[in-house]
Amino acid sequence: ADGLQAAAAAKGLAFGTAVPITRFRQDRRWRSLAERECGVLVCENAMKLSGVVPREGVFETAAADETLRFARSNGQRMRGHCLVWHEGLPPWAETILASGNASRAEALMRQWIGAMARRYRGAIEAWDVVNEIVVPADHRPGGLRATPWLAALGPGYVDLAFQMLKDEDPGAAAVYNENDCEQKADWIDERRSAILRLLEGMLKRGVPISRFGMQAHLTSTLPFDETKLRLFLREIAGMGLAIEITELDIDDRAFPPDVAARDRGVADLTRRFLDTALDEAAVLNVLTWDLYDPDTWLSVYPARKRPDGLPQRALPFDAEYRRKPMWDAMHAAF
Ligand code: XIL
Repeated sequence: ADGLQAAAAAKGLAFGTAVPITRFRQDRRWRSLAERECGVLVCENAMKLSGVVPREGVFETAAADETLRFARSNGQRMRGHCLVWHEGLPPWAETILASGNASRAEALMRQWIGAMARRYRGAIEAWDVVNEIVVPADHRPGGLRATPWLAALGPGYVDLAFQMLKDEDPGAAAVYNENDCEQKADWIDERRSAILRLLEGMLKRGVPISRFGMQAHLTSTLPFDETKLRLFLREIAGMGLAIEITELDIDDRAFPPDVAARDRGVADLTRRFLDTALDEAAVLNVLTWDLYDPDTWLSVYPARKRPDGLPQRALPFDAEYRRKPMWDAMHAAF
């Protein structure tokens, strides 16, 4: 084994990827890549509320279960993603959350978290309990993002979600997973302080949280500041929390169309980021948000697409399943 997992493991880390279910089911080459390169897997969409309960009363876990069986047979661990998020909500759940009936909303949360935690107890090592909960750049500074969960249950919904997971699966690591806290911008400074304040408050209240997940959807559109990231991770580690890098990829939108130049830019940013982040001993692992360029969400998500329409080169493997400079950068950083 000479893949990323082997290099990561030699440093006491783990490497893994999100699993896009269609690719997983249809592509043997992809599966052998995932087998060789990864020590941990996470479903890209199959464990989201919209993936498991697309209609009220159904409970569709075939995709999640297949992924889990694959991980088991390869000796890979699995993360769970994600229990409480403002996206990935099926219409029936949106309706309940918008009904103004807080006890129905709380029952929905308890049933959903309880069902997933019980079904996958012992199989999921860490659950993203809440995902992307602080205000985005374009909203008021500080505080929680305006989401259907916040509207239905008030700010206590965050603590409640962690408590519900703890009640059903006390052995799983409980993760607060967050985006846009890695790079350099005033609005990111504001987000970092909001996140730190939130974590401090949770710990003071005794909320059962054990890890912070940093998504690391990095972007060529922003500069990178080593000092600020280092300090941010130090503060989180100082609170006694472990850290996971959960969704690494590089939006190459601001890099020139030339493939070699883009791949270099992507690799450089990856290397600078990982060199800084992996300096922090509390960081446990690195997962990329998919493994191979044709799968990246960045090429299809409207706000992330390149203006020239070229597919993004966000990930460690290219469309021919070949290792890219990003792969080398990761391998060297481990
Ligand atoms: C994305 C998936 O990659 C897409 O396939 C889906 O359509 C939308 O969600 N942050 C997260 C992930 O926490 O769940 C998101 O995944 C990407 C951003």
